[in-house]
Amino acid sequence: MFVEDERAGALDGALQPVLWRNGRVELLDQTRLPSAQETVVCDTVQDVAHAIRSMVVRGAPAIGVTAAYGYALAAVTAGPGSEASELSGAYDLLLSTRPTAVNLRWALDRMRAVAEASRYADVADRLLAEAAAIHGESYEADRRLSELGAEALGGRTRILTHCNAGPLATAGYGTAIGVIRRLAELDSRVSVFADETRPFLQGARLTAWELSVLGIPVTIITDGMAGHLMQQGEIDAVVVGADRIAANGDVANKIGTYSLAVLAREHDIPFYVAAPTSTIDPRCRAGSEIPIEERDPSEITMFAGVQVAPAGAQARHPAFDVTPARFIAGIITENGVARRPWEESIAGLVSEAVSVA
Ligand code: MRU
Repeated sequence: MFVEDERAGALDGALQPVLWRNGRVELLDQTRLPSAQETVVCDTVQDVAHAIRSMVVRGAPAIGVTAAYGYALAAVTAGPGSEASELSGAYDLLLSTRPTAVNLRWALDRMRAVAEASRYADVADRLLAEAAAIHGESYEADRRLSELGAEALGGRTRILTHCNAGPLATAGYGTAIGVIRRLAELDSRVSVFADETRPFLQGARLTAWELSVLGIPVTIITDGMAGHLMQQGEIDAVVVGADRIAANGDVANKIGTYSLAVLAREHDIPFYVAAPTSTIDPRCRAGSEIPIEERDPSEITMFAGVQVAPAGAQARHPAFDVTPARFIAGIITENGVARRPWEESIAGLVSEAVSVA
């Protein structure tokens, strides 16, 4: 359980994106990292929804954990007898914050099931316990998948990653970065190229910061440099996270992931996705069914509050893209590494997740 003072002291604590403390949700403000380490305190579910929408907390698994605490917070702050309506509003509000990351719906569905099964005055306590369970289980799942991922990648030392799929994006350990962490523990030669990841700079700001804290050598490149480095023979493998994985193995992840996968194929470099089974959405049969979040174009035309494009210039900001399964060497989960034939392999891992739960 990640309560009271977990962030202080231990390394994982320092990189912990979300905490339940003193009856409120505390978030490490990822919009301010790495220049400032500030905490945003959420007193209401509306605060939590705003924090997710504005990317104070981001990354599919971290969004799921935060939403779970936000839902519990709605029960804690509900007036006597108003839990049911508060919780139904909280579910809809939280679900509307980010459309692509399926961990959000996964966590909220789990929380709602607990609320519906609670006919007692202790609904808030039960929801808090469930949120803490989601948090702890997510952390453990990432540790397991990291172990399996390190086995799958064994011997490869120069790893490229995109966006941020580390402790900050998860329950505090990491998926793609979890795999890299474990690999680096086993082989001191491991080093990372981190795509800067325009426009939010999750790679330059967050991945590079996490890896520095963890003592793993990291070199930041702009997104467009990846092909050149692959061509020069400087990349041994690519590992990225995921926001939603369809039943056929297509993967939605941060915009730019698809281009990397195509480049990796051209250069015969294995392209791996690391994600817990809570990121698999069996209801999406193929990547074309995954909703892609379109964010405000001003995130493209402005940089750090400064207008960088001509006034009035049109811009688009699809925040994710879909990588077809045919470009992927393996999807690393806590229950094993899915490979082609994808449907069969993924269905096996998901049913294992259901039977374990
Ligand atoms: O828009 P973001 O920062 O929430 O997008 C995050 C990503 O795309 C991550 O790569 C993905 O969620 C995996 S996080 C373990």
